[in-house]
Amino acid sequence: MNKKLYMVSLGPGDVELLTLKALNAFKKCDAICVPTKSADNSFTKSISYKIVSNALHILGVNKPIVPVYSPMHFLYEDWVHEADVILETLQHHESVCFVTLGDAGIYSSIYYLLDIIKEKQKKVYDNCEVIAGVTSFSAASAEAKKALCLGDEELVIKPINPRGEVKTTQILMRPKIGMDTKSLGKGDFYTFENMYLKDAKITPSKIQKVKKYMTLFINFAKRS
Ligand SMILES: C[S@@+](CC[C@H](N)C(=O)[O-])C[C@H]1O[C@@H](n2cnc3c(N)ncnc32)[C@H](O)[C@@H]1O
Repeated sequence: MNKKLYMVSLGPGDVELLTLKALNAFKKCDAICVPTKSADNSFTKSISYKIVSNALHILGVNKPIVPVYSPMHFLYEDWVHEADVILETLQHHESVCFVTLGDAGIYSSIYYLLDIIKEKQKKVYDNCEVIAGVTSFSAASAEAKKALCLGDEELVIKPINPRGEVKTTQILMRPKIGMDTKSLGKGDFYTFENMYLKDAKITPSKIQKVKKYMTLFINFAKRS
């Protein structure tokens, strides 16, 4: 049996900023795992629970909601516990959503959890889908009616209270067609061409020559 895990980005708080992909995942799944900072597993303070409840109300469906205690102490054993709750839920259901605020790619615990899930149940990891969402800062930019980057500006996202060495992920956009990518330097590159469009291609390295304007590179922070 192919168990399905969806890691669903919820956006910054407004249910209207959920994606259709997220709503479809809620429709398709058999249970939704929702993180809570409350040790008694209640959802009184959970923003995620509020968004999920609103979404289920809009969809007119009811799904079992499973609390996942997430104290946000950055402790490995807490992530193992969270991953175990998700895997346990998948034992009772064919498909399960786990939710995270904003976009899953920005300071979310889901990649700690996915690393653990990959070790414990590789098949679940391989079959898992991460659903992108609206980040808090793209919503903030829209609320303020102010662009995050214009012309030749760049955007910097920084942790205000880093716990150690700060490593950098670079997102490189707006290439010139035909350009040689040597100048972009070395690192853990991925190349994304025409994402979700015709001839979409994701290459887990840096392509040598740019063929399409709709190309972006990510040089991921070096992680051990
Ligand atoms: C753990 S990070 C999660 C970021 C999230 N994944 C995203 O894509 O924006 C939490 C931080 O995101 C920012 N944040 C998230 N949602 C927000 C909101 N609705 N309003 C203001 N800041 C928000 C705050 O800086 C908060 O401390």
